[in-house]
Amino acid sequence: MTLKELFWAKGFEYYPTDKDTHHQYLTIYSELFSKWEKETINILEVGTYKNGGLKLFEEYFAKATVVGYDNTLHPGAVGLTRARVFIEDFYSGLRELPELTIAIDDGTHQIEHQLSFVKKVYPKMVSGGFVVVEDVWDGFKQRFDELDIPYTVIEFYPPKDEPNDRLILFRK
Ligand SMILES: C[S@@+](CC[C@H](N)C(=O)[O-])C[C@H]1O[C@@H](n2cnc3c(N)ncnc32)[C@H](O)[C@@H]1O
Repeated sequence: MTLKELFWAKGFEYYPTDKDTHHQYLTIYSELFSKWEKETINILEVGTYKNGGLKLFEEYFAKATVVGYDNTLHPGAVGLTRARVFIEDFYSGLRELPELTIAIDDGTHQIEHQLSFVKKVYPKMVSGGFVVVEDVWDGFKQRFDELDIPYTVIEFYPPKDEPNDRLILFRK
């Protein structure tokens, strides 16, 4: 089973995340991440909202350590079994990060924060790991090029519900 299949098996009410509803990201995540389904890896998501992404990850990646950050405790967030959420501002935070295999920024979607996310997590990635920046707005190229790290842009046409239906991927 892929991440996308698991999501749709239980649906949005169970996994309240927009990663395959307003956006179209789980197709890509299924292709790139399924090889780690049974591996002991560390996964980070910044911007957890109602915990739907974290819940999907903790159930799919049964041996992973899943950690999220959100600066707000959102009412209605679903309960988590193994994943842990820090309620704090990730971008200005100083908490030490572990080695990471998957790191996803789904926080403010502001380019300065997206760039700071990549600068902060890229050095912590294991070889072959992915840094993903979700929901990247038009006009990103010049700023992301300044990072001087090769990246791939994946955008969906037509965008589903949001004009920023676009991911940027960095592979370590
Ligand atoms: C688009 S939502 C996340 C959706 C979630 N990842 C999902 O898949 O359903 C963006 C989240 O980023 C959080 N956020 C905003 N500023 C933040 C910050 N400085 N640090 C961490 N999280 C932040 C918001 O509170 C909000 O919950």
